[in-house]
Amino acid sequence: MLLLGGRTINNLNTPIFNALRKYVNSSPIPFHMPGHKLGKGIPDRFLNDLHLLDMTEIPGLDNLHFPDGVIKEAQELAAKAFGADYTSFLVNGSTCGVHGAILGLCKPGDKLIVSRDCHKSVIGGMMLAGVTPIYIQPEYDSFFGVSSFMLPSTVEQAIKNNPEAVGVFVTRPNYYGICSDIGAISDLVHSYNKILIVDEAHGAHLKFSPKLPCCALDAQADVCIQSAHKTLPALTQGAYIHVKGNRVDVEKVKFVLRLIQTSSPSYIIISFLDIARAIMEQRGSELIDGLLEGIQCFESKIYENTGYEILSRQLLKSGETDKTRVVINVKNTGQTGFQIDNILRSRYNIQVEMADIFNIVCISTVADGIEEFERLYFALNEIDKQFKNYSRLPDINIRETRLPSQAVTLDKVMQYSYETMKLAESEGKVSRGIITPYPPGVPVICPGEVITQDTIQYIMSVIEAGGNVNGVSGGLEVEVLKCV
Ligand SMILES: Cc1ncc(COP(=O)(O)O)c(C=O)c1O
Repeated sequence: MLLLGGRTINNLNTPIFNALRKYVNSSPIPFHMPGHKLGKGIPDRFLNDLHLLDMTEIPGLDNLHFPDGVIKEAQELAAKAFGADYTSFLVNGSTCGVHGAILGLCKPGDKLIVSRDCHKSVIGGMMLAGVTPIYIQPEYDSFFGVSSFMLPSTVEQAIKNNPEAVGVFVTRPNYYGICSDIGAISDLVHSYNKILIVDEAHGAHLKFSPKLPCCALDAQADVCIQSAHKTLPALTQGAYIHVKGNRVDVEKVKFVLRLIQTSSPSYIIISFLDIARAIMEQRGSELIDGLLEGIQCFESKIYENTGYEILSRQLLKSGETDKTRVVINVKNTGQTGFQIDNILRSRYNIQVEMADIFNIVCISTVADGIEEFERLYFALNEIDKQFKNYSRLPDINIRETRLPSQAVTLDKVMQYSYETMKLAESEGKVSRGIITPYPPGVPVICPGEVITQDTIQYIMSVIEAGGNVNGVSGGLEVEVLKCV
């Protein structure tokens, strides 16, 4: 029985609330975002009476769209902490930062050099802005089955081939914590007088520890977008867009953000962007030290006693990775990452951020303690023993997909009518939607691209292995453009 304004209300049907409560009451180990990990990373005094922080722009509380009071002050503190010249808080995640950066920096018809391991928000931003992408492929790691480092030489070749491109857009770290050499890329991009935008959605914490790869702003990126909610003790949808140097017209970026963000930004989200900055600025380095010690101890036990491989250790010689992103290759068990993810959830109440065919991906943040890693180790060790007689998963299911050809440019796709058809029969058709395993949300096919037999097979193998693919319906259908 509930009381509302003195009246009794019974039997409210609240499926979302019920599901959330059920999950939280089961006391899970959350190796997923948001980075505050069920509130553990946030001092209690900030979490009490959260509803009282849900406000509107009354006097004294400033206005996110035209800040000149407390929001301006908090944004300036964030700019200083992250090493930017200007920072804006975002209430619609990095997605709106990515859209804002592309719309603010590019005109319709402009070319932008984009690493293909980008998030789908980058494709959306280019559709909205009428930008022509010049895709560049990062390297590929066949053992983990993931995109890896973007080589500076690949970026340079693309600039040479497209001297009119306005800039370069790279994703770093990628979902697996792989960090391309941003210093070298930045120097190179600037030597050609181009703008560098870095999607650092997964790297808001990098700034706060010298033991992690450097953050993009320290490498002089012009624009850097960070999902605070992924790796800091911030709330979902909270993100930052940072601008550095004088190559970017900040006023244009602000103008665009006013167009694309809600006119009623959540004070809860923006106050936690401020709180996350304050916590990390004061204690970040020490907290990350503790986290890294816990991870090191976990990894040592995994290597001593089990057959798993850990991405950050394996890629040590090839370049830098974010060690807080614990990517565990589970091939040794003969099971897919999706299957191990299911076992961890159903038997041990451990929820990882995502799984793919070969790996499970754990997001760890300063809110995680030793106990979380001990429980993960215990579970993985038992699973390893259970499957010790199984032979290692072969490399057959997965391989690098080639860049598809673009039959219709991104800005024209919406002008076509479309139909749905079976994915299996769609070879040679032009996709209307973004087809992407989610997470990580890295597109396999973008709007206007031709679906090939290779990509059909790849998508089918992800679905058959238990993966979730956005853009393919439950009936295994896709949307394709008519008359192309
Ligand atoms: C690389 C990357 N960029 C951008 C985004 C979008 O971030 P948000 O969920 O904060 O909008 C994501 C989300 O997963 C991502 O992985």
